[in-house]
Amino acid sequence: MSKDKKRVVVFYSYTGNTKKIAENLASKLGADMLEIETVKKYSSDYDEVVEHAKKEIRESYKPEIKPLKADVSNYDEIILGTPVWWYSMAPAVLSFLANYDLSGKVVYPFATNGGWIGHTFEDIKKACPNSTVEKGIDIYFFGSNLKTPSIKIDEWLQNIK
Ligand SMILES: Cc1cc2nc3c(=O)[nH]c(=O)nc-3n(C[C@H](O)[C@H](O)[C@H](O)COP(=O)(O)O)c2cc1C
Repeated sequence: MSKDKKRVVVFYSYTGNTKKIAENLASKLGADMLEIETVKKYSSDYDEVVEHAKKEIRESYKPEIKPLKADVSNYDEIILGTPVWWYSMAPAVLSFLANYDLSGKVVYPFATNGGWIGHTFEDIKKACPNSTVEKGIDIYFFGSNLKTPSIKIDEWLQNIK
């Protein structure tokens, strides 16, 4: 793939795992990085968020998100990172896909998770029907410890480079 494609890593992270991977990917790809942030912050009580999010996911709720700090339309390729929340993408990522037009762009999804990825990648694909969604990678964390070997992530990166 051409080296002059403009790439950006767009991600949401609640406890920092997805952010860690996003930083790593952005540095390896020489890509820009944009964080998705909700207007209303989720509680800092993890268990409360887990319960609350169950309802949000069930209802495909799209929380209001802050405008991104750069214009996504300037990029050809989006490396999209989400934590898995109740077998799907985090609601803030669903908001991003609903609010921004990614038509004609190539999307490379990655999803950090605790072992149950569910239908996350299928849901991402459905939420950006006018984009080419490439094969995603699921990245397993035990708590805040990365368990997926970095070689697996590097292999996946070869699809983008
Ligand atoms: C609300 C909520 C729901 C979650 N649901 C799942 C799930 O369905 N499957 C899974 O493997 N992990 C689940 N997790 C764990 C996270 O996906 C995992 O810890 C992820 O790496 C967190 O990323 P972050 O630190 O960027 O927020 C959930 C975590 C939260 C907070």
